Amino acid sequence: APARLGAVPQMGFNNWNSTHCRDEFNEQMIRGIADKMVSLGLRDAGYRYVNIDDCWANWQRDKNGKLQANPRRFPSGIKALADYIHSRGLKFGVYSSAGTSTCEPLQENRGFPGGLGHEQEDAASFAAWGVDYLKYDNCNNQKIAALQRYTAMAKALRATGRPIFFSVCEWGENKPWLWAGKPPVDAQSWRTTGDISDNYASMLKVFKQNVLLDRYASPGHWNDPDMLEVGNGGMTDVEYRSHFSLWSIMAAPLLIGTDLRTIKPEALKILLNKEVIAVDQDPLGVQGHQVRDANGIHVIVKPLKDGSRAVLVFNEADGAQDVEVAPAEIGLKPGRYRLRDLWLHSDRNGDGSISVKLQPHASVMYRIRAV
Ligand code: DGJ
Repeated sequence: APARLGAVPQMGFNNWNSTHCRDEFNEQMIRGIADKMVSLGLRDAGYRYVNIDDCWANWQRDKNGKLQANPRRFPSGIKALADYIHSRGLKFGVYSSAGTSTCEPLQENRGFPGGLGHEQEDAASFAAWGVDYLKYDNCNNQKIAALQRYTAMAKALRATGRPIFFSVCEWGENKPWLWAGKPPVDAQSWRTTGDISDNYASMLKVFKQNVLLDRYASPGHWNDPDMLEVGNGGMTDVEYRSHFSLWSIMAAPLLIGTDLRTIKPEALKILLNKEVIAVDQDPLGVQGHQVRDANGIHVIVKPLKDGSRAVLVFNEADGAQDVEVAPAEIGLKPGRYRLRDLWLHSDRNGDGSISVKLQPHASVMYRIRAV
C-alpha cells in the first residue's frame, strides 16, 4: 500500500519565491528545475514535489469551463509537464485559490480563474493531468467561510480517487491549525502565517508565529510556515542555515524556493544537509517544542523515533551571545550522552549540557542520544 499522504512533511520545489509571476516562470524553467533536482542529488535527498504556483493558468477557462494553461508560459500544456516530471521520478503540484480568482495580478482588475464553485471540474482536471499536490490559496474568497471553501475542494479531490496532497494556503487567518487537519477538510498541511520574504526579519517573524503551534502537528497534518528562501540572496549563509534548521526542527514543509539552475554551492550544501533533513523527516512526526525564548535565545527540542532528540539553539539577536543549556532544560536525565553536531558533522560525549558562543543570527543543532 502507498504510504499515507504527508506521513512526513512534504519536500520539493515551488517557483514562487524565486520568480513570482515574471516571464521566466514557464515550462522550460520547470523542466530545467526537474532535471536539476535529479542531477544535483536533491530528489535522492527527499525533495520529491515540483510545484507550480500562481500565474500558470490562462486568463479564462476554455469553452467547456475547464482550466487551461497559459499558452505563452506552458505551450505544451499541463499534462505534458506532469508527464515530464513523473518521468524524472518526481511528483507534480499545481496551485489554485479558494476564491473567484487567484491572487495575481494584484494591480489589475482581473485575475486567473479560481476554484470557488468549480471544485468538481477543477479537481477532475487535476486528476486527469496527473497532479499529485494542490496548493489552494485564499484570495478573492468572497468572504465565504474558510471551512466551507476548503471542505468543498477537499471533497472534490478525494472524489477523484487520485491521492492528491492538499496544502491549505489560508495564511493562518482563521486558525486553520484548529480545523484544516481534521475531517471534513483533512488537509495534509496548512499555512500558519502570511507570506515569507527573503530577509531575516521576515523569516524571524514567521518562525515566531509557527513555533508556538507545535501541539497541532502530527503525521499527515503539518503546520506550514511557508516556503524556503535559502539561496535567494537576501540573507547571509549563517541566516539561511538558521532558517533551514528552524524549519526542520519545526517539522515544516521543505519546499525549495530558489532557482536550482543557478544555485550557489553554499546554498545547495544547506539544502542537502541530510542530517538536518532527517530531523524534519523523522517518522515520529513531532514538531519541536520551544523550551526557552529569552533574551533573544531560542531553544527547541524535537523527540525522534529512535529515542534520541534534536536540539536547536538559535541566537536571534544582533550581537554574539554565550549560551548555557543544562541537560534538564532539554529533558535529559542525569547520564552520559553523545552530541552529534548536525552542521559540523562531528560527535562529542558529555552530560548533555550545551555551552556555546553564538554569533548574531547563528544557531547550533545537535542530535543527542544516550550512550
Ligand atoms: C499568496 C500565497 O500565500 C503565496 O504563497 C503565493 O502563492 C501567492 N499568493 C501567489 O499569488
